[in-house]
Amino acid sequence: MRKTVIAGNWKMNMTPAKTAEFIKALAPMVAGKDKCDIVLCVPAIDIPAAVEAAKGTNIKIGAENVHFKASGAYTGEISAEMLTEAGVEYVVIGHSERRQYFAETDQTVNLRTLAALNAGLKAIVCVGETLEQRELGYTETLLKFQTKMALTNVTAEQMKNVIIAYEPVWAIGTGVTATADQADEGNGYVRAAVAEMFGAEVAEATTVQYGGSMNDGNAAELLAKVNVDGGLIGGASLKTDKFTAIVDAANA
Ligand code: 13P
Repeated sequence: MRKTVIAGNWKMNMTPAKTAEFIKALAPMVAGKDKCDIVLCVPAIDIPAAVEAAKGTNIKIGAENVHFKASGAYTGEISAEMLTEAGVEYVVIGHSERRQYFAETDQTVNLRTLAALNAGLKAIVCVGETLEQRELGYTETLLKFQTKMALTNVTAEQMKNVIIAYEPVWAIGTGVTATADQADEGNGYVRAAVAEMFGAEVAEATTVQYGGSMNDGNAAELLAKVNVDGGLIGGASLKTDKFTAIVDAANA
């Protein structure tokens, strides 16, 4: 059985003070809802406040990016060791916003994934097609390519610490959710790519999330799909009641 993981991706939202306030409010709302892992991926500056506030709760803390070098002259970057020492357990890698605005490529996604895994972090690797790529009929090809590029040189053993998030770019922050069937199909392509690389057993054990306008109203239908093993949630992860409702859908 693969683990359902409900993860928030706060993007560039929340200050340290608001982070502490949010997690203290959220913790009793999600306490004991252990049919899924609950993760909040927060801006780097919010990590100490988040880790402190989440102590003794079932909320785990993630980062939104990691550099692939261990240390050195990389102004503005953060290493995997810095994250683990700060108490971070997960890290989002290759989000489409980083691909679009910060020159992230399939190669750097792969390097970041390897650095995260080698440091003992759990990697939430994001893949997804644009609307143009979908309309051209390239969704399957693209999802498989991005998945395989991201996982190059990852070992079958390390796959235990890999989560893949299928996030169709056209569904992110737009209010347009993929239909449950589209999400299931996209996640299925990702799982097929994992199977082609690592075999069916590893593919069956790999958590594949859906992300893109997942909210309290559509989570249950999306999570009911066989290939949807959780969600990576942007906007709805900034509201305790909406995020809790998604956790509830995963616990139903
Ligand atoms: P929204 O849920 O705001 O569409 O964002 C999805 C996302 O990009 C999560 O990483």
